[in-house]
Amino acid sequence: MTAPQQTFRIAAIPGDGVGREVVDAGRTVLDEAASLSGGAFAFDWTELLWGSDYYAETGRMMPEDGLETLRGFDAIYFGAVGWPGVPDHVSLWGLRLAICQGFDQWANVRPVRFHPGVTSPLRKADTTELDWVVVRENSEGEYAGLGGRNLSARDGGEVAVQTALFTEAGCERIMRFAFDLARGRDRKKLTSVTKSNAQQYGMVLWDEVFRRVAADYPDVETESVLVDAMAARFVLAPETLSVVVASNLNADILSDLGSAIAGSLGLAASANLNPERRYPSMFEPVHGSAPDIAGQGVANPIGAVLSGLCMLDHLGRPAVADAIRTAVDTVTAARTLTRDLGGDATTAEVTAALLAALREAAGTPTHEEAQLAR
Ligand code: NAI
Ligand code: MG
Repeated sequence: MTAPQQTFRIAAIPGDGVGREVVDAGRTVLDEAASLSGGAFAFDWTELLWGSDYYAETGRMMPEDGLETLRGFDAIYFGAVGWPGVPDHVSLWGLRLAICQGFDQWANVRPVRFHPGVTSPLRKADTTELDWVVVRENSEGEYAGLGGRNLSARDGGEVAVQTALFTEAGCERIMRFAFDLARGRDRKKLTSVTKSNAQQYGMVLWDEVFRRVAADYPDVETESVLVDAMAARFVLAPETLSVVVASNLNADILSDLGSAIAGSLGLAASANLNPERRYPSMFEPVHGSAPDIAGQGVANPIGAVLSGLCMLDHLGRPAVADAIRTAVDTVTAARTLTRDLGGDATTAEVTAALLAALREAAGTPTHEEAQLAR
């Protein structure tokens, strides 16, 4: 075999719980897509076993020089972190948020896709075309990590302050990113999620920057909606949305709602981007480590697979990303579904079906066909 024309060096961090199962599945699908590329590209994976087990051994979620190790990779393919026994804020800040902040992955893109064969809890979704992208500010806002706890010597009188940080530069870059995304879509509309009625400093700055940046995008329709009303809108009028830009916490909550509406948290993909490409970007399913189903082989791999698709897009392989998107639709339309979607397929069965769909679309005989032809 000749060497591939392009090799992507990817750090795989499966993390905890179902993170391991879905990253395995995702890698299998990505490797198949690479092998079907006829030598155009390949993945060179380095698996890094960081997470809650590593914490139990070392007292850290990743090595002290973890970011230096990651820095040389083309991208990071991440599962999930969090496991009973390690406080969630320790696991999240020790690994996932450490990477997002350390690599200034300030744009978190979370497409909400509606798949054929998957029943949405919304009746409207049966007859309405729904396709959104939630753009989450991923570097500041409510998850800036600023604040502290004090006065614990006062019996029962401890105080905690958690400060949200809104910078004009931070608001502007995420809004320009969201406007550019909206401009490239069929429906050129951007909805900003705010709470400036109650949060009169940070969110008012957010609104002002939104209006100022909007002036540079006269071709994009805009609106500004309060987050509580937006939660209702996701359910009642989903057809009115295209791209939604929101602060770190608001987008975190709304994107889980979006993926639940699409059918399951197990379907949702996410890209943590450093758009300037000064650092590697990180691709991960939206869901967590799902301790309730971990180790049973029933986790839905589609969120991780679609995150791999986002990675291919980022790496400049949009045609391959499209092929994977089509394969996912083929598999859901055939109702090869995991438990979370009302089916009884295992992670391995869905993965095998995805490989078969990819091969079929590429016109390559499947293993079974090859055996029959012999
Ligand atoms: P979760 O996303 O792990 O699970 C929520 C529900 O969705 C559970 O019922 C679970 O079974 C189901 N689910 C999640 N992924 C699924 C999949 N691939 N297939 C089928 N069903 C799936 O959220 P939860 O339970 O709140 O958190 C569990 C742990 O994960 C916590 O330690 C939390 O901190 C961590 N977490 C980590 C995230 C990350 O690493 N990015 C994101 C969210 C949570
Ligand atoms: Mg979340």
